[in-house]
Amino acid sequence: MIDLSTEYLGLKLDNPLVPSSSPLTGNVDSAKQLEDAGASALVMPSLFEQEVQHEQKQLERFVHSQALGSYEAQSYQPIPEDYSSELDSYLQKIEQLKAALDIPVIASLNGISTSGWIDHGKDLQDAGADALELNVYYIAADPDKTSTDVEDLYLKLLADLREHISIPVTMKLSSQFSSIANMVRRLEQGGANGVVLFNRFYQPDIDLETLKIKPELELSNSNDSLLRIRWIALLRSHVELSLAATGGFHHTEDIIKALLAGADVTYLCSVLLQEGPGYLATLNQHLHDWLEENEYESVAQMKGSVNQSCAINPEALEHNNYMKVLKSYAR
Ligand SMILES: Cc1cc2nc3c(=O)[nH]c(=O)nc-3n(C[C@H](O)[C@H](O)[C@H](O)COP(=O)(O)O)c2cc1C
Repeated sequence: MIDLSTEYLGLKLDNPLVPSSSPLTGNVDSAKQLEDAGASALVMPSLFEQEVQHEQKQLERFVHSQALGSYEAQSYQPIPEDYSSELDSYLQKIEQLKAALDIPVIASLNGISTSGWIDHGKDLQDAGADALELNVYYIAADPDKTSTDVEDLYLKLLADLREHISIPVTMKLSSQFSSIANMVRRLEQGGANGVVLFNRFYQPDIDLETLKIKPELELSNSNDSLLRIRWIALLRSHVELSLAATGGFHHTEDIIKALLAGADVTYLCSVLLQEGPGYLATLNQHLHDWLEENEYESVAQMKGSVNQSCAINPEALEHNNYMKVLKSYAR
């Protein structure tokens, strides 16, 4: 009997397949389909800082205008009795998912400023989230900000969140750090229970008809997974925290490679949007078959068995690989 179970953020999961934030994970019906097809946990779509901040400002303006008197107050829409903020809806969604599902539900906060929105992590915990993912979407385009300034921002947000909540926290990161390994270690020291590698940035494009910027959301492909697998292999022997791979995991082979490199789970999004929730059952079955054929008893046994600690000198290995790839090109 092959054991596909794994541990992520201290949570015992039946297998390493976790649907990541997407419209599929924010809807109770599709979340149930994901669970039925074999998802071992799920990450909800993010609650965005802008959504929370915008509503807080609206509310403050309303309360302020009430204090000023009826003339000012009339210029604002009264808050209806059944007014439900984005935050309230999000908390209700956590409760609904927790009631409908047996698998762990990971809530997600997405933002960047250090101005108080992070305190809502406590509300997400109180609503029943089993863990919290913090997605710090920051484009380091300000030339006055050093790499240390940028890294400190992540650490500050983590520290603020840690002050308010006791459930596990995982940080979803981009690959754009000068030293990913050092950053991940500092996050671990700062109280992160895991990291999710890597965020995919959606590249804005220029529309040549209108000469305006148009946002483009392109789904991933398998090639994207290689960057994630490489970094998981490089990090595994240096940190204890959980490692989740996200970005380009479409085929069972991609998932197997991430596990061999040392991932605790692989997140799935694009492939589930393309193939539907039922595809999880196929992936789980293929994973099971591969382990059996290759004489592994469990995911725990295979996890990390091909990673950087196999090499005596990691930097030399990386460099040699680079050299070999360039020299292997044949026209
Ligand atoms: C339609 C869509 C919505 C997404 N929403 C979120 C979100 O709310 N928060 C988040 O952290 N990531 C979000 N993501 C990113 C995914 O969770 C995932 O990390 C990314 O797509 C890479 O994984 P993939 O290659 O399996 O798609 C979204 C992706 C898509 C395609």
